[in-house]
Amino acid sequence: MDRMKMTLEGLTIERDGRTAIYLQVAEALAWRIDTGDLPPGARLPSERDLARQLGISRTTAVSAYRELEARGLVRGHVGRGTYVCAGPADSGAPFAWRGKVALGAQRTLDGSLRTLARHGSDRSVISLATGAGALDLFPIDAFRHLADRVLSRGAHAALGLGPTEGQPKLRRVVASRIGVTPEQVLIVNGAQQGLDLIARCLLDPGDTVIMDRPGYLGAIQVFRAAGATIVGWDIGRADPEELEDLLLRYRPKLLYTNPSFNNPTGRTLDVHERRDLLDLAVRYRMPIIEDDLYRDTWFDSPPPPSLRQLDQHQLVIQVNTFSKTIAGGMRLGWLVAAESIVDQLALAKQRVDVASPSLEQLLIADFLATGGYDEHLATLRVAHRQRHDALIDAIHRNLSPGTLSFAPVDGGLYLWCSVGHDVDARELLDAATQAGVVFVPGDVFYPVSCDGSGRHELRICFSAVPPAMIDEGIRRLAQAIDAARSHARNLRTEPALV
Ligand SMILES: Cc1ncc(COP(=O)(O)O)c(C=O)c1O
Repeated sequence: MDRMKMTLEGLTIERDGRTAIYLQVAEALAWRIDTGDLPPGARLPSERDLARQLGISRTTAVSAYRELEARGLVRGHVGRGTYVCAGPADSGAPFAWRGKVALGAQRTLDGSLRTLARHGSDRSVISLATGAGALDLFPIDAFRHLADRVLSRGAHAALGLGPTEGQPKLRRVVASRIGVTPEQVLIVNGAQQGLDLIARCLLDPGDTVIMDRPGYLGAIQVFRAAGATIVGWDIGRADPEELEDLLLRYRPKLLYTNPSFNNPTGRTLDVHERRDLLDLAVRYRMPIIEDDLYRDTWFDSPPPPSLRQLDQHQLVIQVNTFSKTIAGGMRLGWLVAAESIVDQLALAKQRVDVASPSLEQLLIADFLATGGYDEHLATLRVAHRQRHDALIDAIHRNLSPGTLSFAPVDGGLYLWCSVGHDVDARELLDAATQAGVVFVPGDVFYPVSCDGSGRHELRICFSAVPPAMIDEGIRRLAQAIDAARSHARNLRTEPALV
């Protein structure tokens, strides 16, 4: 402080009006910082003291510090004072961004989804991981034709920015398919955005969310990023008593479930289980987020009515998408909810991306309205069932009995498999990646995975690749299982270090 006094004492302020006083003060301090006279970390006098020492007004002192802050030379901390910042590193070391990442963003450090998406586009790897429908059957010609029509009908509407809630035509077509009003529909960039908007609107840090256990990884990430505590409800047992215990113990803000052809288990709740769930939600005044995106992916018969259809109190927000039935890269989905909450969600969407792409919305609206979508769904149903059967066939042919245990499914995209306790799914994934095939290791589907949940489970997607590739993928997986097992055996028999 003495040194500070000394350096400031030498400063003469010109009051001839040619240079603003605050700039003279800022320049003098900047010079002292530059020469090292005021080293990084040095605390500057308070604004009041500076004003007193130099005989200037407090406002001028504040302006001088603001000027130095704008130049990045000092930083003011409320209640602690103003400090000289460290100068730019001259070592050429990269900027340390990690320290700047906001707390909320740091809650999502798991890059599993991104890594799996990357494998999906690597042609040397057979991805049984990416959760996609049979994209190889995408109706390219029909879409080319629709694009021509949509663009010639009005390029302005197709290329301009549309309403945040979505293109009226798409809202109308979606609403009439599912028997709601267009105002209850919000168009979103995929179900993932729908979940993110819901978390932004309904969750505060510290809230508790109950969700399927195991359950969708993307939902776990969204709720975690919102600062929520996630409590799992065993979707396999779907026991209402267990749920009621959780409701009493945790008083959750909401429940999230994916009740038809669940990701990852393939489980579908029957109508009684759905009613039990709704009864509890009504009694405990708890909103339900129903992620219903696999509804249309049934093989022989549709799943029971959705929670939204059974709901008489408008406490369900339903999330859906065209990702699995048209194309994931289109990034289009929709939400259905009470109008008041649609309005709130639309305000959140407006902040995030203003509106979903107009051209794609109009294309999909026409695809639905002209019956192309239903035809395509029929094609997918046949193909997905064939691929499901091909996967089971390939497992039986390439793996010895009992290596993988699983239950066949009636729809959806996934087979949920257990490997023996001698195989760790993460280690198996390493070996499988080397052999040229990937799947999703089970632990990522558990809100708390450090307790070992999912360590011996894996999710295999059967729908995204044609049967011949499924067979080759399982052949590679068989090699990987052998490699992982012998690696585990070697570790067990290695002499301990003494
Ligand atoms: C249950 C569930 N919800 C949401 C999503 C995200 O879907 P979208 O691609 O529409 O964002 C997925 C994707 O796999 C999913 O399985």
